[in-house]
Order: sequence, then C-alpha cells, then structure tokens
Amino acid sequence: MKQKEIQQQLGPLIPAWFQAHKRALPWRGISDPYAVWVSEIMLQQTRIESVIGYYARFMEAFPTVEALAQAPIERVLKCWEGLGYYSRARNLQRGAQQVAAQGAFPKGFAAWRAVPGVGAYTAAALASLCDGEAVPVVDGNVIRVVSRLRAVREPGPPAAARPGMMRWLQPVIEASGAPGDFNEGLMELGETVCLPRAPRCGACPVRALCKGAASGAPERFPGLRKRRDVPERQFAAFVVRNGAEVMLVQRPPQGLLAGFRELPMVETQERPTLPRAKTLLRERFHLVASRLRYAGTLTHVFTHFRQVLWIYEVIGSPAADGADAAVPGFYRPETCAVTTASRRILGLGQRRRGGASGEG
Ligand code: ADE
Repeated sequence: MKQKEIQQQLGPLIPAWFQAHKRALPWRGISDPYAVWVSEIMLQQTRIESVIGYYARFMEAFPTVEALAQAPIERVLKCWEGLGYYSRARNLQRGAQQVAAQGAFPKGFAAWRAVPGVGAYTAAALASLCDGEAVPVVDGNVIRVVSRLRAVREPGPPAAARPGMMRWLQPVIEASGAPGDFNEGLMELGETVCLPRAPRCGACPVRALCKGAASGAPERFPGLRKRRDVPERQFAAFVVRNGAEVMLVQRPPQGLLAGFRELPMVETQERPTLPRAKTLLRERFHLVASRLRYAGTLTHVFTHFRQVLWIYEVIGSPAADGADAAVPGFYRPETCAVTTASRRILGLGQRRRGGASGEG
C-alpha cells in the first residue's frame, strides 16, 4: 500500500478506536478549556496514574482560571508539591493571569501558543482538544507509535524527531475528521496498546497498516535510545528538629525549585566526616552543634543531575555562632512547600512517580 493511502486510512481509525476504548479519566468529557489546560500541563513528563490525584486536588483548590490567577503562588506550589517540574506550576499561573486579564480563552494554536508557559506541544493539544484544529501532538508515545507504524528504528531524540513526525501526521489528522480525538487517541494507543517492550498488537486498531507489526518483531521499533548519563553532585544535609518543627532554608526566588524550603544543605566532594560536617554547619549556617549523628544517605534524581545526600542529624539544640548570626528558621514541614528530596529525608512520605523522583 502506498504511503498516502496508509495515511488516509489511518486518520479515521484512531478517533473511532478512542471513542470505543478510552479510559475514563477525570479531565475527559469536560469542555472547560481551563480543565483541559491543567490536565495537559500536569501530564507533561508525568505518568497518568500519578496525575489523577493531583488533578482532582488542584481543581478543587483552583476551580477556575480566575481562582488560579488570584491564588498566592505558595498555595499553588503546595498543591503541586511532589509532582515535580515546578516551573510548570509557576508558568500555569502566569498563563492563567494573562487569560483571566483577557477575559476569554484563546482560540486556536497560535493564540494558545502566545500564552506564557504554553509550548508548541501544549498549544497543539489545546487547539485540537478545545477548538478542533488539526495540529498533530507529538509526545514520546506518539513518536513510538509512528516509528512502529513506519518501521523506523532510529527516529532520534524527540526534539529532532518532532518536525518530521508532525509533517507525516498532518495529512493523517486532516483525514481523521476529529482532530482532538485523533491526538488523544494516538497518545492513548501508545499508553495502553503500543507499549514499549510488549506491544499488544492483538488489540490494535491499526495493525493491518503497521510495518512494525508486519515485521514480526514490532518491539524492535524504535530501537532503545542510550540513557543520558547525568552528573552526580553530593551534598551534606542537616536535620535539626525542635518538637514538630524542623530547620528549613528557603531556596532563591529564581532557578531550580525556586522559593521552596529545604533542609540546610552544603555541596561537598565526598562524604564529610562528623567533625567536617560540624564545620560545614557552622561555616554555612552559623550553627554550633555539640552532637551530630550520621543518619545515612539518599539519592534523588533530577532531570539533569543525580543528587547524593549525606544526612546528618543534630542531637540537642545547636547554638547560634555569634549573636547576630542569620540562622535558618524552624517550620512545621507539612505547612509549607518543601522540596521532594527534603520531604524524603524527613520521612514524610511522598506522592511521586515511578522509581526516580524528577524535579526540573
Ligand atoms: N498525555 C498527554 N495528554 C494526554 C491525554 N489527553 N490523554 C492521554 N494521554 C495524554
């Protein structure tokens, strides 16, 4: 069959399958663009099962674009806590403020793309789901599905693969007759049928058009990409308790995990000895601890580095090193937005995705 014919046939099969087999998810069947927007931002880089609970809590806390626009950012971040990639939450609020000020939701790809924090991927999702515009969404699942359909072994990294995929999908989505269901259906197919290691070809609506399936070994497409090696950085982290409160430091207002609170930490080159840990605590946080205990280690994975944390517990109350020393304050950790790594150290449990907790 010619490529053009495959593209034409493929189009309507995806929305038809989606209508019959879509999972019941809390953001489906809702026509409110705000609800779709929140869900699409949460779904970026995060598994669906992890998003469901966050989505419900977030929509309860901020049910409308106006409510989100007016909320204190600390409350927004608190609601996002544990979901990772916190810049998404900040950008979502900035976008909500712009939309609330305009008094109407954007319509179409270009208008959505102009909203702060709405990238090409999200704009395509929103324009197709909310406005019925035929713009393909290309995420990791879609790249896998299309690579299999076309028996492409090396689509390359997502950023490089995306333009070619979009060009190939354009006539397909136009032939679909239902751009929103087409995009969501293709993602859904990747998440529930066209699985990375064990594709369920028996349940696939487009098996007859799939070159990967025809090869007899669809799981070979696309080939596995080498994992990017991320650098490792080591930190001494200090746990200083005072009843139900712990000493927490606020991170700078810009950059990684901006504004979040965390345990006092110092970057090191190796695991500090106890005397060295005491010195670090005094030099960096102006605290003199009479007793310190090494409490173990924990590794926290960010997108771009692996954080090895050497944990020290201060026994008793440390004294300030000098009368006017600026020492960190004590807080009840459950009342403020605390980084996932620090929450893990404090054993506060966490709602997180998969094996590695990602925070970008
Ligand atoms: N991934 C991102 N958005 C999605 C959606 N709307 N449905 C299924 N998977 C998705």
